[in-house]
Amino acid sequence: MGPVAIQRSEGRRSDPVQAVAALADELAARGAAGRALAIVLGSGLGAVSERLTERRVISGSELEHLPRSRVHGHAGEIVLGELAGVPVLVQSGRVHLYEGRDPFEVTRLTRAFARLGVRTLLLTNAAGGIAPTMEPGTFLCLSDHLNLQGQSPLFRGEGARSCPYDAELGADLERAARELRIPLERGIYAGMLGPAYETPAEIRLLASLGAHAVGMSTVAEASAARAAGLRVAALSCIANRAAGLSAEVLSHEDVLSVMRRSAEKLTRLLERVVPGWARAS
Ligand code: HPA
Repeated sequence: MGPVAIQRSEGRRSDPVQAVAALADELAARGAAGRALAIVLGSGLGAVSERLTERRVISGSELEHLPRSRVHGHAGEIVLGELAGVPVLVQSGRVHLYEGRDPFEVTRLTRAFARLGVRTLLLTNAAGGIAPTMEPGTFLCLSDHLNLQGQSPLFRGEGARSCPYDAELGADLERAARELRIPLERGIYAGMLGPAYETPAEIRLLASLGAHAVGMSTVAEASAARAAGLRVAALSCIANRAAGLSAEVLSHEDVLSVMRRSAEKLTRLLERVVPGWARAS
């Protein structure tokens, strides 16, 4: 069976709830249970996980039930360790709807975290800046999102709450960024299906809808995590000005190179906030 056939057979035929339980069991068998905080690292941000102490890597290839990404820059591993002395679970790399995955595959690991005892989830991503202040190298802390992916990760009857993002966690990130002089604002993330970057006309539409940044991930994971009872925060690392807002033509490689530089700032920000989050959970 080739890789495409494997991808098709994952998730589509298996029951999504059972798949979550099976993945959580695989992770628990590798020592991943009982950590209150999980961090998901977006494209090019994998270096954050290198700062963990007591570090142990669970490779994606060990986990039969983990849907794996084929996108360059997404490692596809789970790293156990401590960040600023706090035990954490770090997901380095994620799968996207644009890879042909369904919303339950995209959120399987998120829901598995909840079963493993995670109480607080921080999602990170690479995004295009729409608001004038959202320049490459700045951060957007999500106050809300627009799910424009055309699909929901919630089960029937599960019911979305009004907004998945926790205002207190956002305030903590804002305070830490101010103290560290890292440019960070609160605002709205537009989640698009991708895989192509947007057209300038689409960006003008998103701006008129109130979006501050745009990307292709995060919205499904945030909604599923909240539905599973987690406290959720999300940070976009702005990699570029969105289409039509600068003369530059975007490539995935450009995005990755800005993200690698943002990873260092993100690490400092996280080291500042996680001890407080560990005390609160
Ligand atoms: N659009 C969508 N996704 C992105 C962008 C963008 O401009 N930059 C990084 N991820």
